[in-house]
This record gives sequence, structure tokens and C-alpha cells, in this order.
Amino acid sequence: MTDPGVREAADLLRQARRAVVFTGAGMSAESGVPTFRDALTGLWQRFDAQALATPEAFHDDPALVWGWYEWRRTAVARALPNAGHVAVAAIEARVPHTVVVTQNVDDLHERAGSVDPLHLHGSLFAPRCSACARPAPVSDPVVDEPADGRRVAPPSCGHCSAPIRPGVVWFGEALPGETLETAVEAAASCDVLLTVGTSGLVYPAAEIPQVAARFGAAVIQVNPQRTPLDAVAAVNLRGRAAEVLPALVRAAWETGRA
Ligand code: OAD
Repeated sequence: MTDPGVREAADLLRQARRAVVFTGAGMSAESGVPTFRDALTGLWQRFDAQALATPEAFHDDPALVWGWYEWRRTAVARALPNAGHVAVAAIEARVPHTVVVTQNVDDLHERAGSVDPLHLHGSLFAPRCSACARPAPVSDPVVDEPADGRRVAPPSCGHCSAPIRPGVVWFGEALPGETLETAVEAAASCDVLLTVGTSGLVYPAAEIPQVAARFGAAVIQVNPQRTPLDAVAAVNLRGRAAEVLPALVRAAWETGRA
């Protein structure tokens, strides 16, 4: 028996002409990827994220900050996309003009088959020069990364020799303008926005579901907890991404199955 909320959400998705899937850290939680705040263990446990994920922290101690991101990148490389990521890719394959917009810096959407997701907060897999901004090669994840992490001196830019930095958005930095603009345009023109695993607290990213609702889209939320997005959601599915999203895809396109 399909939950009535799932059935309603499935009907909205099946009839959608343009969809946006907006995801946050909860999307990757069941893949065992440490969320932004969980990642402050071991060497970094005495730090607050706001103190580590900043240009100033990188300038003052590049090896500490680069080591943290390399530790997170290794954790992501060891993780696998979960059934929720696979369901998002299935939605993209069935709803024309689906755009995936993620706040996550992991590559699990890509590894599950999503095509070109928009990374509003950058990616662990897009390092660049801290001075000339040239993209830098992504080295193989460190195999013997210690559980408590370690300081790792960042590589130098092959062009100007400045330190390479992680390709993520730090506190106090602007989001990539073109990516944000594309995401807002997609939200303003979709008829369904599925928001998954985000607390909806961090702006400007959290504006995306609000824009969709303002332009008349039906917002479907998947989250075990209440969030500010409850106020704009047409359907609230209280549950985990890896459980609810596959049920949503089954209800929408595999008729006759719960
Ligand atoms: P948060 O850690 O703020 O919120 C994660 C959300 O996922 C919460 O609402 C949880 O209830 C929910 N959640 C947990 N497990 C889940 C599961 N299995 N399935 C579905 N939902 C689940 O993460 P974000 O909202 O992504 O920014 O945070 C946004 C930004 O805040 C991050 O991108 C980062 C941080 O500052 C930057 O790094 C710039």
C-alpha cells in the first residue's frame, strides 16, 4: 500500500514537464559521507567549521585546511552512491528537462548517473589555484589516509606556483555566479521541485525552493525532520532519502507496485 503522500508526489512527478531536484547533506548521509559538521573529528575536532572553511584559515595554515579536504575527499571516494542518488538519476531519465542542484561537494550524484548536477557550493573534485584560479589536476585519493586525518601541504600551481586550494565555497565567499543563476532560472521555470535532505537554512542556496514555490511550482520535500521548507512544500514526505526516493520512483513509473 503506497503512502498517500508518496502517491500524490508521484502523480506530480509523473505529470511534470520540467523538474528540479535540490539536495543537501542528508542526500549523502546514507552513503556514510560525514556531513559538513560531522567532518570535524580527529585532528580537526577542536575546530568549528566556520573557523576552518574560510580563506583566512587556508592562508594561515594551508596544510591543516588542505589536509581536512583531502580527508573528506578520501571519505567520499570510499563511499558509494545510495538508493536515493540512483532514484534521482531515474527521475532525470523520466522527467524531461530535469536539473539537479546540489549543495553537496561530493560526487555521488555523478557516480549514480546524474548528468551535470549544479554544485552551488563547489566540489571536492575541482581544486584550483588559490591565485590564478586555473583548475588543478585531481590526484588519486590517499589510500592510507589515517582515520584522524593529517596535515597535508597543498600542491603548487603548475602555472604560477601559488598553493592549490579546494574547489569549494568557503564562508565569506560568493557562490559561483553562473551556477547560481542557472539554478535560479531552473527553479523559476520548473513545475515540480523535489527538495531532499537539506535544512533549508543556508542562503543563498536555500532560496532555490522558495523561488520555485513563488513561481507556482509544486514543492515536494523529503526529510525525516521538519524544516523551514515545510511552509512552502505541497507534499512533505517524512523519511530518509534512500527509502522514500525509490518508493517515489516506483509509485510514479512502475504501476502496480507499492
Ligand atoms: P545540514 O547538515 O544543514 O542539514 C542536513 C539535513 O538533512 C537535515 O535537515 C536532516 O534532517 C536531513 N537528513 C539527515 N539524514 C537524512 C536522510 N537520510 N535523508 C534525508 N534527509 C536527511 O545540511 P545542508 O542543508 O546541506 O555549506 O547544509 C547546507 C550548507 O550548510 C552546506 O552545503 C554547507 C553548510 O554550511 C557550505 O559548505 C558553503
